[in-house]
Amino acid sequence: MQNTTTLEAQPTTTKKTSSWNRTGWGLMFLLALLLFVIVSRYLTLDPEVYFPEQRDVYIANTGFLLMHIVGSMLALLIGPFQFLPRIRTGRFLNVHRWLGGIYLLGILIGGIGGLYMAQLAYGGVVTHLGFSALALLWLFSGFMAYKTIRKKQLEIHRKWMTINYALTFAAVTLRLWQIVFGISGLDFLTGYQIVSWLCWVPNLLVALWIINRK
Ligand code: HEM
Repeated sequence: MQNTTTLEAQPTTTKKTSSWNRTGWGLMFLLALLLFVIVSRYLTLDPEVYFPEQRDVYIANTGFLLMHIVGSMLALLIGPFQFLPRIRTGRFLNVHRWLGGIYLLGILIGGIGGLYMAQLAYGGVVTHLGFSALALLWLFSGFMAYKTIRKKQLEIHRKWMTINYALTFAAVTLRLWQIVFGISGLDFLTGYQIVSWLCWVPNLLVALWIINRK
């Protein structure tokens, strides 16, 4: 991917992204906020609030679990703001940079924690592979987003960030798919195994479609 876009050329990027759908952004933010509130109960470290099937695993690995959840919570909540055209220009550019740094730190911490937790996930090898692939792609796309912005390749950076946040959003889609499978009556274990892939593969495809459309 060749790109010559520089920070000075920011308005071009802004114009392109000004078509960002407000309703879509609002829905994305609301779902992210809702999940942020729901998972914040983990910060109490009260085993009673843990995913029951994995309670013993979480008690034995509280450090990595907490690392994963805190880093991921930061990324989940900051991400949507980074897509707002207004925050990427003019006097807000520094806010965008600071939030971007915290976001990527969240991915690094949350991703390493997530990769570790993937080896212990409920559901056996299918979920271990599904969550490991997600964690690796999450870390890789975050690294590429960082690398490209260091080189001031704004357009490519934006694309990697779109991919990265679509993967962050897997935490939301995972819970939505679980509701669907819960209603369908599928047994929990099978549903969880399917969801460990279904939570992120369609998100990735949507992100690729978004960044490749004209
Ligand atoms: C996108 C990359 C992510 C990966 C690879 C990932 C991976 C994992 C894995 C493997 C587990 C253990 C699951 C099990 O025990 O079966 C887990 C649990 C958890 N993750 Fe993530 N995760 C990601 C994103 C997020 C995000 C963005 C959040 C939200 C802030 C989040 C919040 C949690 C919570 C709260 C748990 C505890 C289990 C539960 O109550 O659902 N994760 N994650």
